Amino acid sequence: MVSKGCLYSFPAMTSGFQDSAVPEEPLLILEYGEAYRNLTEVKMSHVVLPCHANHCNELSIGQLLKWMDTTACLAAEKHAGSPCITASVDDIHFEHTIRGIHGRHEKQGLCVGQVVNIITKVNRAFNSSMEVGILVSCEDLYSGSTWRVCKAFATFVARPTDSGKVQLKPLVPRTQEEQMEYSIAAERRRMRLVHADNMKDLLSNGAIRRDSICQEFKDSVPAEKTRVESVELVLPPHANHQGNTFGGQIMAWMENVATIAASRLCNAHPTLRTIDMFHFRGPSQVGDRLVLKAIVNNSFKNSMEVGVCAEAYQCGEPQRHINSAFMNFVVLDGDGQPRVLPRIKPEPVNGKRRYLEANARKKIRLDRKYIFSCSQTEVPLSVPWDPSNRVYLSLNNVSALKILAAKRDWVLQYERNKVTLYALEEDQFLSFKVEMMVEMVAEKVFVLLSDLSRRHEWDQHYQKCDLICQVDEDDMIYHVVTPSVVKDSKFQDFVLLASRRRPCDKGDPYVIALRSVTLPTHSATKDYTRGEVLSAGFTIWEESDTVTKVSYYNQATPGVLPYISRDIAGLSSSFCTTFTSCRKFLEENNKDSTPAPASEL
Ligand code: COA
Ligand code: ADP
Repeated sequence: MVSKGCLYSFPAMTSGFQDSAVPEEPLLILEYGEAYRNLTEVKMSHVVLPCHANHCNELSIGQLLKWMDTTACLAAEKHAGSPCITASVDDIHFEHTIRGIHGRHEKQGLCVGQVVNIITKVNRAFNSSMEVGILVSCEDLYSGSTWRVCKAFATFVARPTDSGKVQLKPLVPRTQEEQMEYSIAAERRRMRLVHADNMKDLLSNGAIRRDSICQEFKDSVPAEKTRVESVELVLPPHANHQGNTFGGQIMAWMENVATIAASRLCNAHPTLRTIDMFHFRGPSQVGDRLVLKAIVNNSFKNSMEVGVCAEAYQCGEPQRHINSAFMNFVVLDGDGQPRVLPRIKPEPVNGKRRYLEANARKKIRLDRKYIFSCSQTEVPLSVPWDPSNRVYLSLNNVSALKILAAKRDWVLQYERNKVTLYALEEDQFLSFKVEMMVEMVAEKVFVLLSDLSRRHEWDQHYQKCDLICQVDEDDMIYHVVTPSVVKDSKFQDFVLLASRRRPCDKGDPYVIALRSVTLPTHSATKDYTRGEVLSAGFTIWEESDTVTKVSYYNQATPGVLPYISRDIAGLSSSFCTTFTSCRKFLEENNKDSTPAPASEL
């Protein structure tokens, strides 16, 4: 077993297809002395030269997107051993921050003379596609300081061979960090594949209210003034050795027209803050004419959304839709603060539709940012649930549990009646894990445990559990009432989102994740003390055809702590009793459970 730690690091490796020809130095020496390097890792470093910069001496984001795509593609090709193409790039958030250096305020952009460092590695291989993680940082050679620019995830697909679709070899994660990324990559993939439908769904009914109108502002700028249309001829330098246009090149051209549209609104230099997910719908080749169209869809107080569409054609042939993207810009003043922007007056029909859709995307973006940035130390722990954030909350719920499950420093507390209790102390968090084996098929355990309304049958803490809402096949919201462990105090209640997943691949566990959410229909009442669950749930591993390992995790919040602290302190073994009763419940109901319909992913 490889531990999470590393003691030394060695210089960067060169990239290439396969590693067999050149013996390479190890990158890391792990805690137990084993030499280890991630064979898919590729690094790229560039000094930003004037030819890479815009007129403000800052690295153009288009150039950065090209470098990111190329480095990520090399990592994907290293694993696949064959040419790969960019299928999509998840949302990117550029972290332009202001920081005081030597008493002055300096903008931490990426300027001429600074170095951009990009590290990429394959997080997981699926069938023909792979998720590649991309980490971009900037380095100031004179001050020695470094800072993070962005982290992104791209999906690459190995090009089909003459004999058909490629089946990639699986990637084996070895360090704790690799294990976490591997595990969560399956969640991110799930989200990516429903992204387009989810957005369509939200825009057509959920997030745009029927009575939404385009607000009229005095002195607003007609959107038409910002419209850009530009053509590019795809030449060999824009393509890979197979003649396919580099995804990064297309993203760079899209960023270029979006920047022009944004500048036309504010008559200033705009800074790109975020890009919503890029999906390459179809390939483009050398000889294509790429038509890029952009317009400001909406402007808010301090930011604007620019939409860009890329279409390709060869002479005499119809145009093919290659990509559409939505980019968000701000304009920074001398102190690095966002300036107030002019408002936009949309064009009739399509312009008004895009204006309202941009409003809806802004809400979705803000919700998502809140869900993902909600650091564990912030209160309240619960996040408001609504249909527009359901996909992200579900992803966040399952990912949090997977992160907890991937941790390795669990300390054994006791083992009784073949139930084992572990604890993990980290900064201000105390997490615990209960493990046991049951003699039955994993699928049946999953079906029985994912029905929270039956939990009272084995867990005395679940006095009442009502299903509030069946969000979809895999997500449910419950209202749970538990007796207080403190004598004579009020009962506690919880509003819990339960998200369940079947294995994405052989070797993955079944997952049932729980976290608190808030619902306007179920606010806290004076009858109960409202408790909160940050991250809890089960992972269910198939050990053999007849034996299943059940692990229960809980990242203890103040509301949950009293239930566990006595066990961890060795004063009680109530968890052993509860999980022995859980095993009995499972085994008794082994025959009755009818399998739930398999979800698609
Ligand atoms: N994001 C991430 N992965 C996606 C995806 C998306 N939006 N859409 C499909 N995929 C993955 C699928 O999950 C599948 O992965 P798997 O084999 O590991 O299960 C893989 O792509 C192939 O999917 P499939 O359904 O066979 O093909 P498709 O018809 O959906 O086509 C592409 C997917 C990416 C191959 C296709 O859209 C394409 O060729 N796009 C252009 C890519 C390109 O040329 N990029 C360079 C810039 S032009
Ligand atoms: P939609 O029109 O539904 O928003 P598209 O994929 O057609 O989706 O376009 C994506 C974005 O590209 C639009 O939101 C818009 O901002 C921009 N765009 C599309 N067509 C044009 C055009 N003809 N001129 C300028 N910008 C355009």
